Amino acid sequence: MKIESDFLIIGSGIAGLMFALKVAEAGTVSLVTKKNAKESNTNYAQGGIASVFGKPDSFDLHIEDTLASGDGLCNRDVVEMVVKEGPARIRELISLGVNFNRRDTSDPSIPDPENLDLGREGGHTENRIVHAQDMTGKEVERVLLNHVKQHDRITVYENHIAIDLITCSTRMKRGLVITTHEDYCCGAYVFDRTTNRVKTFCSKITLLATGGAGKVYLYTSNPDIATGDGIAMGYRAGATVANLEFVQFHPTCLYHPDAKNFLISEAVRGDGGRLIDADGNSFMEKYDPLKDLACRDVVARAIDTELKKSGNESVFLDISHKGSDFIKTRFPNLYRKALQFGFDMTSEPLPVVPAAHYICGGAATDMAGRTDIGNLYVVGETACTGLHGANRLASNSLLEALVYSHKAAFQAIDDLKTSEFKFPDISTWDESGTIDSDELIMVSHNWDEIRRLMWNYVGIVRSDKRLARAKRRIEIIVNEIHEYYWDFKITSDLLELRNIATVAELIIQCAMHRKESRGLHYNIEYPEKNDTRWQKDTFLRQPFVG
Ligand code: FAD
Ligand code: SIN
Repeated sequence: MKIESDFLIIGSGIAGLMFALKVAEAGTVSLVTKKNAKESNTNYAQGGIASVFGKPDSFDLHIEDTLASGDGLCNRDVVEMVVKEGPARIRELISLGVNFNRRDTSDPSIPDPENLDLGREGGHTENRIVHAQDMTGKEVERVLLNHVKQHDRITVYENHIAIDLITCSTRMKRGLVITTHEDYCCGAYVFDRTTNRVKTFCSKITLLATGGAGKVYLYTSNPDIATGDGIAMGYRAGATVANLEFVQFHPTCLYHPDAKNFLISEAVRGDGGRLIDADGNSFMEKYDPLKDLACRDVVARAIDTELKKSGNESVFLDISHKGSDFIKTRFPNLYRKALQFGFDMTSEPLPVVPAAHYICGGAATDMAGRTDIGNLYVVGETACTGLHGANRLASNSLLEALVYSHKAAFQAIDDLKTSEFKFPDISTWDESGTIDSDELIMVSHNWDEIRRLMWNYVGIVRSDKRLARAKRRIEIIVNEIHEYYWDFKITSDLLELRNIATVAELIIQCAMHRKESRGLHYNIEYPEKNDTRWQKDTFLRQPFVG
């Protein structure tokens, strides 16, 4: 079955939805999303969106904080563009109906004329986090999804998982999509999870907005959709990917066997929460002058060090001194969730551990979200734009997605108007010779093995030996998946497994390449930063496969 539209958008988080609303003014849009449309990292975002709203803050300060956090690898032009564009994009969200928290208007010391309540997070020297209580993402997702679902030019396909991009040179060979470089994108093969059929989506412009890859690691704050599909698809199609060694571990996820690494927002520390050890002693002052509000890479490594030294299973985050009323009003969701797991954060510290949270690298783009494949755009966590460098500053991710979906939409509309696009003769999906699998155990076993090996060998602290071990194992697994993929009919679990394996392999390659420690990449064999040799991005592009 072939479905044609001007724009194909893969993903329904903040990046995909915002782009959809904008380009729908110029053409027809198919938006595919692999589960229920609201299932996305966006929907779980807590702290908020970083942006400058009046004195004492300034664009310069936000720019400097972003550059400092990025540890020498941010692209300054990108940082300036994103920071300066931020307020306009947040006002746009407000005009669409997003309800951010406001402050008491009777307080004359509050300079922001819009009266947005501005929180603080690690690495920020001023209060600048616009938020909707502690559920910012849920509020943004709710509003954007409502608009998208009501738009008559946008068709949303839920439970549709994109398998691979189609380029003008794509040839099908029993489930394997074969492409060459010097290509342009003209759609994607998409697996309909309800009918188990593969559909061919043909489009003039395609956007990858598939979010992050937290599920590559055993412990992650991310929901199940975060399997790095866009990075893997982009790479397989020949796009350049960059900086995948920089995986961000959030310092504070709730430590409880059933909590699935529920995130405890950095805003808790922004509002006075302190990290303490099992004896009640604070420890961050040993690691950074900014203490609990140091950048995330520093705090996560400090916790890792404390846990290794003490042999304890968690450290603790204590905000109980702020009082019950404040905590219940400012963090209603965290309070409720923690209580479900038996912790009352108004009267006791919460046990917390770091977990994989955000991938700073991704498919490399220019300042309009374009990749090196024609007509293929990437926005949001899947992209590597140059904003985050070696370590993303807290709450800069939603900001980046907002600004880039705006820029990319403008460029894509222009491309649509000016290019003479002809759909090539696209082959439909070929599954000849494949059979239903009788070995699903292989899929679940390999899922588990990849996530464990990435946690154990490619985590917060790395070494050449651990990386080499990870590389040997992942190569075996990738070969096994390849053989399996060739023989059996696809399932969504198999597609995701193939993608986490690809992303794991790419993370390992990037990490092995960088012989220094910088930002989120820490290798005990090269504990120092080496600007002379390594102040540069890591790029990977798949060898020609035609
Ligand atoms: P997502 O929101 O993850 O959306 C991706 C979409 O793609 C989903 O709809 C998914 O189902 C779909 N998809 C994936 N693969 C496929 C496929 N193969 N086919 C079809 N569809 C597919 N950032 C901040 O700036 N501030 C915060 O406060 C903040 N808090 C966070 C808290 C948590 C718990 C987490 C996990 C992240 C947080 N982040 C925060 C990071 C931020 O939420 C994400 O980086 C951002 O939402 C990513 O948006 P996105 O649109 O790129 O991807
Ligand atoms: C948080 O609320 O701590 C998450 C913020 C982010 O990931 O930017």
